[in-house]
Amino acid sequence: SASEKGGWSSFMAKEISEEPEAVGNTILGRTHDGLVHLEELAPIGDAALKDVDRIVIIACGTAAYAGMLGKYAIEQWARIPVDVELSHEFRYRDPILSDRTLVISISQSGETMDTLMAVKYAMASGAHVLSVCNTQGATIPRESHAVVYTHAGPEVAVASTKAFVAQVTALYLIGLHLAAVRGTLDEAAHRSAVDELASVPAKISEVLEVSQAEIGQLARWMTETQSVLFLGRHVGFPVALEGALKLKELAYIHAEGFAAGELKHGPIALIEPGQVVFVIVPSPRDPSSLHPKVVSNIQEIRARGARVIAIAEKGDAAVLPFADEVIPIPLAGSLFEPLLAVVPLHIFGMELAAAKGLDVDQPRNLAKSVTVE
Ligand code: G6P
Repeated sequence: SASEKGGWSSFMAKEISEEPEAVGNTILGRTHDGLVHLEELAPIGDAALKDVDRIVIIACGTAAYAGMLGKYAIEQWARIPVDVELSHEFRYRDPILSDRTLVISISQSGETMDTLMAVKYAMASGAHVLSVCNTQGATIPRESHAVVYTHAGPEVAVASTKAFVAQVTALYLIGLHLAAVRGTLDEAAHRSAVDELASVPAKISEVLEVSQAEIGQLARWMTETQSVLFLGRHVGFPVALEGALKLKELAYIHAEGFAAGELKHGPIALIEPGQVVFVIVPSPRDPSSLHPKVVSNIQEIRARGARVIAIAEKGDAAVLPFADEVIPIPLAGSLFEPLLAVVPLHIFGMELAAAKGLDVDQPRNLAKSVTVE
């Protein structure tokens, strides 16, 4: 009903507006004196977490893209190799697990059948199983050794939005906890990561304020568009995949996300005049200096007639001459940019679906939680 939507035009509009709180509430109570401490991990125990030699993240859909971001952060901070696998691929290929493997499942609903079955498989194989879940008392957390709940609040719209940013937040907290247990991150770096994470809600609010109108207009211009590509590198890559998934789910548009470095290995052949390409641009301050590489990708596709919509740090002057549109995001450390860059893509999927007259909360053929295989 309209009152349940709190005055918003759809549950999705309401849920996107709640992305700042989804992050903030997931951090709440999980830091102590500026350092992360996750009491929820006690059932596994710090001794076992210290001994883990491999992490496997299992999830489906949007949750799997959150998992990819978790991989970058956990590997960087805790120096443990992380694989991310779709739950339904994982359990049917006899995966190699041991009592030194930490399996992390991610599920908003906690009821996705493929993820539940993968969790049961991992439990039976003797691995440690930690679940990230948004629904108190759901089946997956009950079947796991430990659970870190995301506090995004109930998510009603079928396509996941606020749960995604909460999942990434939970994985970053897990990464910092693991780093503390294993002594892989100095305290100053740990504190600055906590500060960065704590500053994300206000920065998401800024993105919501700044980009809503511009993206709405962009979407209204694009109702006839047949295909949209998304490019990103490093942590921008999962953001590209998530942007593409939202367009498929919500606007029924053929959309693909690519790692920008793969461009010349295939995707560039798709570029013809007028092709719309979203590019997630790393910060020009990024120490890994991926920024110039992505800017040169933009020049390559622009030269072939692509229409480029860049999501870039505000003040990034290098992008301006080559992009048709720039959606600015606030300054953040590179691991934290995805939590900002994804927000305009969530808005875009929703606005384009709305502009096409589609039901953004209940897209055709999809279910909120897939409880069959
Ligand atoms: C369905 C939903 C997606 C969601 C996926 C995983 O496909 O439409 O939005 O990402 O399930 O759901 P889960 O509850 O396991 O996170």
